[in-house]
Amino acid sequence: MAIAAAAFASGVTLRGVWPRKAGADLPPPEEVAPDPLRPLRDLLELLPEPLLLLDRAASTRHAAMRPISMRPISMRHANLAARESFGDILAALLRHPALADAAARVQGEAVVTTIVKMDVPVRRVLRASLKALPAAYPGLLVVSLSDHTQQAAMARMREDFIANASHELRTPLASLIGFIDTLIGPAADDPPAQRRFLAIMQTQAARMRRLIDSLMNLSRIELSEHERPRGHFALGRVAAHVAGEFEPLVRTRRIALDVDLAEDLPMLQGDGDQVAQIVQNLLDNALKHARSRIVLSAHPASGTAWPAAPGVVLTVADDGPGIAAHHLPRLTERFYRAEDGNTGRTGSGLGLAIVKHIVGRHAGRLLIESSVGEGSLFSVWLPCAGVTKLT
Ligand SMILES: Nc1ncnc2c1ncn2[C@@H]1O[C@H](COP(=O)(O)OP(=O)(O)O)[C@@H](O)[C@H]1O
Ligand SMILES: [Mg+2]
Repeated sequence: MAIAAAAFASGVTLRGVWPRKAGADLPPPEEVAPDPLRPLRDLLELLPEPLLLLDRAASTRHAAMRPISMRPISMRHANLAARESFGDILAALLRHPALADAAARVQGEAVVTTIVKMDVPVRRVLRASLKALPAAYPGLLVVSLSDHTQQAAMARMREDFIANASHELRTPLASLIGFIDTLIGPAADDPPAQRRFLAIMQTQAARMRRLIDSLMNLSRIELSEHERPRGHFALGRVAAHVAGEFEPLVRTRRIALDVDLAEDLPMLQGDGDQVAQIVQNLLDNALKHARSRIVLSAHPASGTAWPAAPGVVLTVADDGPGIAAHHLPRLTERFYRAEDGNTGRTGSGLGLAIVKHIVGRHAGRLLIESSVGEGSLFSVWLPCAGVTKLT
């Protein structure tokens, strides 16, 4: 098998050599017996889907004494599509217990399908369907392979998403149900307690509504993410409008909000309402974390610095506690929160996921910089109309 592994790794095919043991003396070419599998191999080679020809016949007398499920399977051929798609993992696939198990279960005409999960060199999920060849080819199986890595990752994301969303909704809902029970029961004749509980219920219900709004928002944005928005908007006007809405909140929290919007910002192509949502979510986070100051700015980007293409850069900076480096790559995941849960903050962890998707829809870029103890800087680059998407 060492030979096959090396061959796959280097992209070289060792067709006629595989069934032999490494190091076996090869007869001179003219004495090589005609290969009975040659027509079969040639046929598999022509087919577009990844196919393998496996041999589960006992290769040695020692192996013949083992039960069929314990016998090693050997590879007689991997067609071009299989080598191209799975060349780096075919050797590992052959040793995988799920494949060996499926091979042992193949009987008669039946097709046996199995999922093979591999973790090295990278995580891959393969679907393998195995079928025995007719009796003229004893012990031979043909295996059709397909890559399910992406589907498996999507399915896991969907499951995680539903689990997270239900969990987030269940917490305030449980609290609401608890208070309703109390209002009907022990607090039925206690107007001061009723007023207190109703105030808490109002907060919890508002939290549920915010969460549902965010979820709806996120799914709407995701649905339209592959369509480039057609409208045009003035970023300065959008940012100034959102900043204005934050004024009262900022004042009650005794935080300074400095707004620095360049006069000469070009009109941008995109959805102004969605871009307002970016500014809103970033300011919302800054307001939650800032100690004394937030700076909102927007400037034309010449393309000489990040991200090396002309456009406009909008930044939101705060002097809050900052974010530890290990959280940074995960901040835009849905429901991800960097706080340890003891801070009493009630965010949903969806705000930056929404920002990321809107930025993506506008073919823009998001950069998050932060150092613990010094604050955080969120920069969004949006391209000018006509600039092609960065890769
Ligand atoms: N300006 C900031 N300063 C410190 N931490 C931040 C800041 N912005 C975001 N974070 C961290 O990133 C996490 C994700 O943010 P976000 O997606 O907006 O969710 P939410 O605000 O609902 O918690 C937050 O929970 C917080 O831990
Ligand atoms: Mg937020």
